[in-house]
Amino acid sequence: MFSELAPDLFVLSEPLSFHGFEIGRNMVVVRLPDGDLFVNSPAGLTPDRVAALNDLGTVRYVTPSSKLHGHLHMEEYERAFPDAELFAAPGLDRRRADLAFDGLLGGSPDPRWADSVDQTAFLGHRWLTEIEFFHRPTGTLILGDVCYNLGPDAPLKTRLAARLFGMFGGVSVPLDLRYTVKNEAAARRSVERILAWDFERVVVGHGRVVERDAKRRVREAFEWLY
Ligand SMILES: [Fe+2]
Repeated sequence: MFSELAPDLFVLSEPLSFHGFEIGRNMVVVRLPDGDLFVNSPAGLTPDRVAALNDLGTVRYVTPSSKLHGHLHMEEYERAFPDAELFAAPGLDRRRADLAFDGLLGGSPDPRWADSVDQTAFLGHRWLTEIEFFHRPTGTLILGDVCYNLGPDAPLKTRLAARLFGMFGGVSVPLDLRYTVKNEAAARRSVERILAWDFERVVVGHGRVVERDAKRRVREAFEWLY
């Protein structure tokens, strides 16, 4: 159910249809050295998924990527895992007033996961402040919506829409996000903070995982910003 991409790094990919387009979504689970689990973009829970997560470790930190990405099932984690703490991304605490958050994500990691997982805030966009994560031991970048990676395996309608949004065939930033950057200098600094990490793999919120040479592909995805 969860694929182990590397030691202590697990991904659950599931179908997701967005306005009729099959873009899929990825949930990421990082096992910290003490056995606690850091969960990003949690998928909906089933009894099988609860059992699988309990086999991996203790679900402790549950994080979205932004106020838009990865928050839909957080309440299920609060109910299913007694030790879970829910974290808000900027703006999510207002959007999900039904949730009792334990913390707010920002531009630096919580000390409890900082040794394994670093983070930074992607700033400069009009309405999206996304928190990006880096799993240091496996050299893995974890993104939400700032890059997609839809490919030839997607259904025809999705491929056509991906072409229209400038994001077919590789790691790329959707055109609607490019056109709504408000502060280009801040966005460039955000990209540079991401590229300063030593990553080889990227897990995007929607689309295929890139296992090799991910830094070059992420750098190329942001060339329009320079
Ligand atoms: Fe998303």
